[in-house]
Amino acid sequence: MLIGVPKEIKVREYRVGLVPTSVRELVAHGHEVIVESNAGTGIEVSDTHYQDAGASIVASAQEVFKHAQLIVKVKEPLLYERKWLHPGQILFTYLHLAPDPEQASDLMASGASCIAYETVTSDDGTLPLLAPMSAVAGRLSVQAGAYFLEKAHGGLGILLGGVSGVESAKVTVIGGGLVGMHAIEVALGMGAAVTVLDRNNAVLLNLRKQFGHRLNTVFSTAESIKQYCISADLVICAVLITGATAPKLITHDIVRGMKSGSVIVDVAIDQGGCCETSRPTTHDSPIYLVDGVIHYCVANMPGAVPPTSTYALNNATLPYVLTLADHGLQALLEDRNLLNGLNVHQGKVTHHAVADALGFTYWDPALALSQ
Ligand SMILES: NC(=O)c1ccc[n+]([C@@H]2O[C@H](COP(=O)([O-])OP(=O)(O)OC[C@H]3O[C@@H](n4cnc5c(N)ncnc54)[C@H](O)[C@@H]3O)[C@@H](O)[C@H]2O)c1
Repeated sequence: MLIGVPKEIKVREYRVGLVPTSVRELVAHGHEVIVESNAGTGIEVSDTHYQDAGASIVASAQEVFKHAQLIVKVKEPLLYERKWLHPGQILFTYLHLAPDPEQASDLMASGASCIAYETVTSDDGTLPLLAPMSAVAGRLSVQAGAYFLEKAHGGLGILLGGVSGVESAKVTVIGGGLVGMHAIEVALGMGAAVTVLDRNNAVLLNLRKQFGHRLNTVFSTAESIKQYCISADLVICAVLITGATAPKLITHDIVRGMKSGSVIVDVAIDQGGCCETSRPTTHDSPIYLVDGVIHYCVANMPGAVPPTSTYALNNATLPYVLTLADHGLQALLEDRNLLNGLNVHQGKVTHHAVADALGFTYWDPALALSQ
């Protein structure tokens, strides 16, 4: 199969779909790989590194989209990339379609088969291709929160860990999944007073086992969310309902009640955000204020640490890329977990949460593939 890797073009997005070590494995499986020139510059990987691994370098993204049968990316295709997709092509990348009707319509119109990293599942129900980026984003969320809590950056001027004789900052983490767990680990490591809220008691129990009594675990209700946001210095939103738009758990009214100079890091912004006052921001301009509360809503947080993120992502995606390259769409019919990644196929929406969120007809993915 001919596999293509375009350069990522979102603002300050330096990650890349395949690193040379992944290219080498695909070539060893008998596949051809084309990479857009300078695709790896942001992670200190040159065209020569790719060529040494067996890839051919092409001058433009358009060439990649024109020729490749399987396109491996990181972020969702932007408007002009979507115009280059064509029927019969497979796109494998993060899509986050539920809050993005325009992208969904374009992908349907393209006739391509679009597999979203974030909805590929494992047998235990976890999301193996969201996991590495969730780990990075969770750890970064505390780093970003600590930075914007500094007075010079507009924050309360509070040190997360305090010092002896001065109390630590209060950090509230909403959603104790992967992002939440990594955020908790870093926040506790920095000495903050951390509370996590989740609706799943098993999640709370496991976090309590993992972090002990240093972590305050609270069942998530409208009332507890209000209480722990209003008292917090830093709120990290890390809720996910797979494939669906994030629920608006923090209302504007709650934001009005929060301290001026406190910080909300809405990691779930890629699914629309779980705060009513959240809107996506970029690494160039990551924050804005609502009622004095700093909102950090960068939709591609792991893009801030591209080498770490790219290698972590490639470690997770490579087995799936190899399977898709070896077997094409047949691989989806043989693996229910990979099939769950199919969001759009030949104009049909094949993920129920995406169809529900956007009001499109839902097609069973196996049925859509067999037509
Ligand atoms: N902005 C970024 O760059 C970036 C990067 C990675 C992940 N994310 C996003 O972060 C979010 C979290 O990802 P994850 O991997 O941790 O997901 P996850 O599935 O591991 O965890 C989500 C948690 O939310 C909990 N939850 C659901 N409803 C809740 C409610 N009403 N109150 C409290 N908790 C609730 C679930 O029980 C689960 O524990 C997702 O939206 C993901 O797309 C964003």
